[in-house]
Amino acid sequence: FVYPLLLAGGSGTRLWPLSRKAYPKQFAQLIGPKSLFQCAAQTLGGPDFAPPVIITGNDFRFIVTEQLAACEIAPQAVLIEPEGRNTAPAVLAGALVIAARDPQALILVAPSDHVIPDGPAFRAAVAAASARARAGDLVTFGIRPTRAETGYGYLELASDANAGAKAPQTLARFIEKPDAARAAQMLASGQYLWNAGIFLFSAETIIAAFRAHAPDILPPVERAVTEATCDLGFTRLAPEPWAEVPDISVDYAIMERADNLAVMPYGAGWSDLGGWDAVWQESAPDGQGNVVSDHATALDCSGTLLRSETSRVELVGIGLEDIMAVATGDAVLVAHRAHAQRVKDAVAALKARG
Ligand code: GDD
Ligand code: MG
Repeated sequence: FVYPLLLAGGSGTRLWPLSRKAYPKQFAQLIGPKSLFQCAAQTLGGPDFAPPVIITGNDFRFIVTEQLAACEIAPQAVLIEPEGRNTAPAVLAGALVIAARDPQALILVAPSDHVIPDGPAFRAAVAAASARARAGDLVTFGIRPTRAETGYGYLELASDANAGAKAPQTLARFIEKPDAARAAQMLASGQYLWNAGIFLFSAETIIAAFRAHAPDILPPVERAVTEATCDLGFTRLAPEPWAEVPDISVDYAIMERADNLAVMPYGAGWSDLGGWDAVWQESAPDGQGNVVSDHATALDCSGTLLRSETSRVELVGIGLEDIMAVATGDAVLVAHRAHAQRVKDAVAALKARG
């Protein structure tokens, strides 16, 4: 069995106005009829997987249970963080809960806001990586980089590794979110893969890694798990110890510091939908390169995303090239595709205005 641990607590701003603080992108129907969270839960299902453990914030607990029920998935546990403390504490809390059942359990940590179109290929990759994880490695999943992205982690392959192999390879190092110059250099060298943000390890391996590399995180998270309360089927981590937990990602807290790293190269498609341009790309644009939703019409447009989220807004584009327009009940985004990443700046500006 592999125990899926789904991280569902983050809130992105680059997919505004669909992704909101109260309804982050993982729960929205961005591509197809299911939310990204539902797709992630389904991808990590089947005979090789235990029911998933979900970790999320209090505001999202009923969205989580409703969306799982709609897919007929009964979770193993839904853990509620008193406050978001980034991914390191979330991963550790999940691992401690799973370890209480089975210290040797293999845990597959997965974000709930990614697109993995080929479920069977991904499950095969997990199976192929299992032996390495059982042997005590922290296994990452590596994507061949296509640009000098600074928002990702980079995996430096050991000198004798083969990035095209269908088996786990040894890693020399993990570099989280490099600056632009470093990213360009790593892209050019061919010795690096992107970190997909998905990890496979045994419960005891990751707990030992926290003990070795992040000793300040372990005690308060351990207390928050031991003192957790059960409420309507949710496991609420204890707020008092949780208040002492440092805010840090698992990439910085563990992966950059560990030396028992491996990577399973993965080439069957992956996107973290880091902006509306990625949504456009993953939505299979038509012959003119357009993606047009219900309640939207494109006349003489090319390379354009037109998306209306509500029957109250008819969205029409005429003669547009490479434009993205997204209308919800209370906001409209119009942007050039080349500026997709600046949506987060717009959200910051809106917030500053109050
Ligand atoms: N429960 C919980 N609590 N989940 C969280 C929290 C939290 O406090 N913070 C983030 N998450 C969830 C997010 O919703 C997302 O699904 C996942 O954890 C990863 O967090 P991000 O904030 O999206 O990380 P990132 O995109 O900056 O970087 C990570 O992903 C990249 C690939 O998409 C890193 O692992 C990079 O190395 C990697 O390349
Ligand atoms: Mg992300």
